Amino acid sequence: MSKKVLVTGGTGYIGSHTIIDLIENGFTPISVDNGVNSMASILDQVSSITGITVEHYNIDLCDFAKTEQIFKEHEITGVIHFAALKAVGESVEQPLRYFKNNIDSLLTVLELSQKYQVKAFIFSSSCTVYGDVLSSPVTEETPMQEAASPYGRTKQIGEQIISDTLAHQNKLKAVLLRYFNPAGAHTSGLLGEAPSTPAANLVPVITETAIGKRESMSIFGTDYDTRDGSCIRDYIHVMDLAHAHTLALQHILSGKQDQPVDIYNLGIGQGATVLEVIKAFEETTQIKLNYQIAPRRPGDIMAIFANYDKAKEKLGWNPKYKIQDIMRTAWVWEQKRTKL
Ligand SMILES: NC(=O)c1ccc[n+]([C@@H]2O[C@H](COP(=O)([O-])OP(=O)(O)OC[C@H]3O[C@@H](n4cnc5c(N)ncnc54)[C@H](O)[C@@H]3O)[C@@H](O)[C@H]2O)c1
Repeated sequence: MSKKVLVTGGTGYIGSHTIIDLIENGFTPISVDNGVNSMASILDQVSSITGITVEHYNIDLCDFAKTEQIFKEHEITGVIHFAALKAVGESVEQPLRYFKNNIDSLLTVLELSQKYQVKAFIFSSSCTVYGDVLSSPVTEETPMQEAASPYGRTKQIGEQIISDTLAHQNKLKAVLLRYFNPAGAHTSGLLGEAPSTPAANLVPVITETAIGKRESMSIFGTDYDTRDGSCIRDYIHVMDLAHAHTLALQHILSGKQDQPVDIYNLGIGQGATVLEVIKAFEETTQIKLNYQIAPRRPGDIMAIFANYDKAKEKLGWNPKYKIQDIMRTAWVWEQKRTKL
């Protein structure tokens, strides 16, 4: 029988794409999301792509009793915990809301995973845990600096909670996945990022500007010590990212992970500057973007990109999409989304 995987934040951006990859690899995903930043109707798109109707619970994961109901109703083998609030700027304005939501929901899901003898727990972490790094590429061993925001701190604390909780047992194994900059959309054009709060990440801001939802966009700082003065990030296609979750799950379930908790960087190991990303969009789509140069934004770090050798060697992860694929799929999705 196909193994059941609980995907928290299942109607969110990365969760919905991972559900597709799980289905394609023989798992039965069950989705839970409270809709704070997504709509359950996105699962119709998942169904159009896969032909499968995914069971979905509209539940706030801070509600222990309601969340427990899911574990009672299903024999869950693995949990992939995506659910969280993720807007860095908002977390500075509303730190308590971020700590409450991101930590409470993690505690609930982790405790229930132990109680119901789940075997594998995958946690969405972020390169923000490294803070303002002195140099890149960063490996999993690169020491963490102070997080630049309460959001980043929820990820540092989340990692610590999981490590402390699972340190002295051998039943539930966890993987912490540190994403760099997820972007792009499913290659079918039927699924992509559809947040209910305004997009803050570069790629959706680009596509929203191109389609006219925004009059123009700003590049925050072109006076950094980089090849063209703009910040450098490591953009990873969402379907490459999604597949890493399936691989991490399979790795634990096949008994290949010795220690209770392991950590992997997920980026493509190549930094792109903001200006290079804009150029890639303009060349891929033949659309000129209306942008202006603005002062540096507080809290932005100059450059960060990943060394992902560990994920490659231990999980067999080989990201295959390039920045042009990210731009093309994001643009196809933006045009589709506007008509939905
Ligand atoms: N997208 C990125 O740039 C990025 C980078 C690094 C890490 N991450 C992490 O990856 C995970 C997924 O990110 P995403 O981009 O898919 O975000 P997303 O906002 O699209 O998805 C998160 C989902 O969680 C849901 N959610 C939040 N709190 C909840 C709660 N208490 N109960 C139930 N559902 C809740 C939201 O409604 C949303 O659908 C998050 O943990 C995020 O912090 C994202």
